[in-house]
Amino acid sequence: MRRLKNVLVTGGCGFIGSNFVRYLLSRPNFEGVVVNLDKLTYAGNPENLKDILSLYPGRYVFVKGDICDFELLKKIFNAYQIDTIVHFAAESHVDRSILGPEPFIETNIRGTFCLLEAARLYWKEKKEACLFYHISTDEVYGSLGEKGFFTEQTPYRPNSPYSASKAASDHLVRAYYKTYGLPVIISNCTNNYGPFQFPEKLIPLTILNALEGKPIPVYGKGENVRDWIYVGDHCEAIWLLLRKGKIGEQYNIGGENERSNIEVVSLICDLLDEVLGPFNGNPRRSLITFVKDRPGHDFRYSMDITKIKTSLGWYPKTNFREGLKKTIRWYLEHQDWVFQIRSGTYQNWVNEFYGRIKHAF
Ligand code: NAD
Ligand code: DAU
Repeated sequence: MRRLKNVLVTGGCGFIGSNFVRYLLSRPNFEGVVVNLDKLTYAGNPENLKDILSLYPGRYVFVKGDICDFELLKKIFNAYQIDTIVHFAAESHVDRSILGPEPFIETNIRGTFCLLEAARLYWKEKKEACLFYHISTDEVYGSLGEKGFFTEQTPYRPNSPYSASKAASDHLVRAYYKTYGLPVIISNCTNNYGPFQFPEKLIPLTILNALEGKPIPVYGKGENVRDWIYVGDHCEAIWLLLRKGKIGEQYNIGGENERSNIEVVSLICDLLDEVLGPFNGNPRRSLITFVKDRPGHDFRYSMDITKIKTSLGWYPKTNFREGLKKTIRWYLEHQDWVFQIRSGTYQNWVNEFYGRIKHAF
C-alpha cells in the first residue's frame, strides 16, 4: 500500500476538489500536507475551504495559480517535495464548452501537459517519481443507446468540446506512462452531486430554482440518462485508488444509479415540497420547463464498475434519495454561500445562456 506525504491537489477550490481536500485531510492514516493549486476561475471558490486551515493547522497550503504556468509548477514541486498529484483542475461544464471551447483546450489539454511535464522533470532531477492521479469522466466514451455500458476497454468517442478535451488529457497521461514510465492512474467517473457544486449543473440549479419558484429548465424531453454518484463516494474511491490502485491502470467509477433527467428534477421538486410545502400552493413540478436541447446531447452514460469492485472492494454506498436529501439540506443551510457565488460573472453566464427562458433567474 502506498503512503502519501505531500499531495498536490489541482482545482481544490472546485466542487469535487474541495470535497476531496476535506476527505483526504480527515483520513486518520493520512498525516501529510495538501498543497492546493487553483486558478480561481468562476468555478473555484476559496470559501469552499475557508475553515480548513483552522481544522488542520500546518497541513494545508493554498497557491493561487494556473496549471499552465510551468515555472510555478516547478517551484511548487521543489518547495513542497510533492510525491502525489491529484489532478482535478479543469473547465468542467459541457454547455460552456459549446459556447466557447478555447479555455477547455487551454486548461484541460495544455494544462494537463504542463503538469505532466513538470512531474517528469522533477522526477528526473530528484530521482523520485510522483504518482500522477488523473481525474476524468465517463463522457470520454461517448453516448449509449437504451442498452449497454462502458468498460475500461470501450474506445473513446467524445462528442462535446469538453469531453474531447478530457479525452485528449487522458491520452497524454497514458502516453507519459507508456513512454516515460511516469507512474499514473486514471479514473473515469459518472455525474457527481453533493455539497459545494456550482449551480450551473443540473442538480444544484434545480434545487435553487425550485426553492425560489423559478422555471426549471429541462433540455429536450428530459429523457437523457445520467448515472449519479454522491461526491463523498467518489472521494472514497479516489482515496482507495491512490493507495492501492495499480500503476498504469484506468478505473471506471460510477453510482450504479441511472436516472432520466426528468426523473431527477421531479424527485428534487417532490423532496422540496415534502420539506417546505408546495410553492405558492403549487407543487414544484409545475415549475419544470422544457427548453431547446443541448447540441450533440449525449443520450445515456452507464458504467461497468466491475474492475474497481472486484480489485479493491469499492462500491457506491449512498442511496440516491438519501444523497439528494442531504444535498438539498446543505443548500438550504448554506444560503450565504449561494448568495456569495451569485456574482456578476455567474449572473452574466446565466443571462447569456438561459436568456431564452423568461424570468428564469
Ligand atoms: P469545477 O468546475 O467545480 O472545478 C474546477 C476547479 O478547477 C475550479 O476550482 C477552478 O478554479 C479550477 N481551475 C480551472 N482551470 C484551472 C487552471 N488552469 N489552473 C488551476 N485551476 C484551474 O469541476 P468539478 O465538477 O469539481 O470537476 C473536477 C474534475 O472532475 C474535472 O477534471 C472534471 O472533468 C472531473 N469530473 C467531474 C464530474 C462531475 O460530475 N462534476 C464527473 C466526472 C469527472
Ligand atoms: O458524466 C460526468 C460529467 O457530468 C462531468 O464530466 C462533467 O464535468 C459534469 O458537468 C457532468 O456533465 P453533464 O453535462 O452530464 O452535467 P449537467 O449537470 O450539465 O447536465 C446533466 C444532464 O441534465 C444533461 O443531460 C443535461 C441536462 N440539463 C442540464 C442543465 C444544466 C438540463 O436538462 N437542464 C439544465 O439546465
